[in-house]
Amino acid sequence: MSNPNHNTLLSVRDLRVRFRQEDGGRFEALKGVSFDIPAHRTVALVGESGSGKSVTSMAIMQLLPPQSSEIDPASELRFDGRDLLKLSPAELRRLRGKDIAMIFQEPMSSLNPVFSVGEQIVETLTLHAGLSRSAAWKRAVELLREVGLPEPEKRIKAYPHELSGGQQQRVMIAIAIACEPKLLIADEPTTALDVTIQKQILQLIADLQKKHGMSVLFITHDLGVVGEFADEVIVMRHGVIREQGTVKQIFEDPQDAYTKALLSCRPHLDRRPARLAVIDDFLKPEPYVEPPHRERGYAADDEIVLDVQGLCKSFDIREGLFGKRQFHAVKDVSFKL
Ligand SMILES: Nc1ncnc2c1ncn2[C@@H]1O[C@H](COP(=O)(O)OP(=O)(O)OP(=O)(O)O)[C@@H](O)[C@H]1O
Ligand SMILES: [Mg+2]
Repeated sequence: MSNPNHNTLLSVRDLRVRFRQEDGGRFEALKGVSFDIPAHRTVALVGESGSGKSVTSMAIMQLLPPQSSEIDPASELRFDGRDLLKLSPAELRRLRGKDIAMIFQEPMSSLNPVFSVGEQIVETLTLHAGLSRSAAWKRAVELLREVGLPEPEKRIKAYPHELSGGQQQRVMIAIAIACEPKLLIADEPTTALDVTIQKQILQLIADLQKKHGMSVLFITHDLGVVGEFADEVIVMRHGVIREQGTVKQIFEDPQDAYTKALLSCRPHLDRRPARLAVIDDFLKPEPYVEPPHRERGYAADDEIVLDVQGLCKSFDIREGLFGKRQFHAVKDVSFKL
């Protein structure tokens, strides 16, 4: 799929991963996966839950549990001229901190709750970029500013639980880009966030990708964001790549039945069928017939199960030692269900 004009940063060939199960059986999670990530490009890996997206990223990072998993020795993972499957544990640690960085769905599971966010960025910078502590603190403030955390000089002393989910994800991104990685792997980085924050974080990753010239492997089940932010798309199901190509190829001229089904079952904004389509509707031999549509708005005899009028919610935010400020999270919201 790669454009010959682009250098390949990561090349994955015939990647096979097996898990040993408790009953002694084996489960083949990746059944021979091959793809390239070109330098300075964003590749989206899409597919339904359990298709093997995270296992792919964990295999690249070599973070699969050694006691229960096995990467087939014939698999190949070449990154920037190096064979990842042949690196020593020390080389792998250096690679993970510096050359390949990863952000996950749940920032709280990666941030350490007992250290301030500043300490956590500083640790990365002193360990992997060799900065002195004072230089690292200065750089940490710059990084927090770069990822759009408001008042970085103040917030650098905050503990993770004092930040919102979106702000925590910004801190994770700051840690990830601290050492200017060549490849950023983002595994569903916005699924835990609300829609408006999702959009901001996606835009941030896209801006940083351009500015730093990184490659990004973007894992998502949301086809909507793929078209907007990726250059190339890999569609995966049951541990197999079903189709890969440029965003244009995949969205305008999909070849594989599963890709077509995935694209077809996106909800439409202009009509509301009585039941939303699912992938299997499009994989049956007979053509899919959309059920009748429902009208928008309420009919007079609709039962109202929830009636919200003028809902407000605010939080007290501590400022300094004795100061207090109110943050209005919800202002005068009314709706019926
Ligand atoms: N540590 C493990 N031990 C055993 N099986 C595993 C392990 N990790 C993943 N699997 C299995 O491998 C398959 C692929 O899982 P993976 O986490 O890659 O899915 P995914 O595509 O990332 O899904 P999601 O969108 O839900 O995150 C699943 O069937 C899963 O149960
Ligand atoms: Mg996953």
